[in-house]
Amino acid sequence: MMRQQQDNEFDEARPLLRPVALGDLRLPNRVVMAPLTRCRATNEDLVPTGLHAAYYGQRAGAGLIVAEGTWVSAEAIGLPNVPGIYSERQVAAWRRVTGLVHALGGRIVLQLWRPGDDSRPVREMSVPDLERVIAEFGAASGNARRAGFDGVEIAANGTHLLARFLNRRLNRRTDGYGRPGHRLLLEIVDAVTAAWDGRRVGIRLSPYWSAADAPAADRSRAGRPFTADDRTLADYPFTGDDRTLADYDALVAELDERPLAYLHLRGPVPGGPVPDFDAFARYRKLFDGPLIANHGFDRDSGDAIVGAGLADAVSFARLFVANPDLVSRFALGHETAAADPGAHYTGGARGYVDHPIWSAS
Ligand SMILES: Cc1cc2nc3c(=O)[nH]c(=O)nc-3n(C[C@H](O)[C@H](O)[C@H](O)COP(=O)(O)O)c2cc1C
Repeated sequence: MMRQQQDNEFDEARPLLRPVALGDLRLPNRVVMAPLTRCRATNEDLVPTGLHAAYYGQRAGAGLIVAEGTWVSAEAIGLPNVPGIYSERQVAAWRRVTGLVHALGGRIVLQLWRPGDDSRPVREMSVPDLERVIAEFGAASGNARRAGFDGVEIAANGTHLLARFLNRRLNRRTDGYGRPGHRLLLEIVDAVTAAWDGRRVGIRLSPYWSAADAPAADRSRAGRPFTADDRTLADYPFTGDDRTLADYDALVAELDERPLAYLHLRGPVPGGPVPDFDAFARYRKLFDGPLIANHGFDRDSGDAIVGAGLADAVSFARLFVANPDLVSRFALGHETAAADPGAHYTGGARGYVDHPIWSAS
């Protein structure tokens, strides 16, 4: 007779709990911590602190941690209290974080981020401006390596600089950096990968990004003008329509030629409890390397997409905020806790390093 699976029995056959290689990153499980901006670098130097080390150390059981979007240069700064990776102090401070994560048996890559100035249309950036941005990404990548990271992830998702270049409605340049707008990103990929041996650079894309993804800050501005390019949410310039997806198809085919560790895809806003697997399947055909799927997954849908062979790993953002021991909760079938969005960006320990691991009581 078949034995019933006990609720809290360790189930190593679950697809998310199988080891996997993402390029030269070797993961003991496929439960990835997605990048999460938490605004805890509350100091003038924008260095990560002991709180960051504790926070990432608590989550070292993740197959891979993608640390928060981090400024590649002082010029990139777009939000308060977000750390950087452009100064020696920052490199030294990150070394404490990576050292602890490694001592605890984890792996951690850094997300390299360049929001850019949203009020400055893509067409106004000069070629020397762009060359400087490319050089900043390359230098930040080398700094991340010196800081002990296992690799880096280029943030080309969301609505910031690189995504704006990839967007036909916003990129109206007529030079080589104009539509379809792949050139800037590909040159950044080349600069960033040059700092590493082997495959240790991932890239994050959000081809389906649309008004439904718009950050609350943009939503609150909807209805009145806020930049030359983005007028109102009704006129929101990002949408995952057929033409946009076709542009991304061509980009992904080009990325497939680069020595990348993985492609990290943020899917559409899930319409129900299970994300739309077809949205990810599209990229399985275009990209031969490893894929990380993200947006709205839980244990069962994560197992299902990996089990179906459509993704190699799944990343979890909000679940990792409130469940530092997410991998064991998945393995043992324990319930997960919900995060308090009110503490996402507040600074300080509350809602950051005070989430308990599961306990029977
Ligand atoms: C508080 C918060 C901060 C985030 N910061 C980042 C970030 O720095 N970089 C990034 O690419 N995505 C960021 N995201 C998006 C998440 O990585 C992820 O795509 C999104 O939360 C959907 O995944 P989930 O359903 O597992 O939460 C953030 C999301 C939240 C909720």
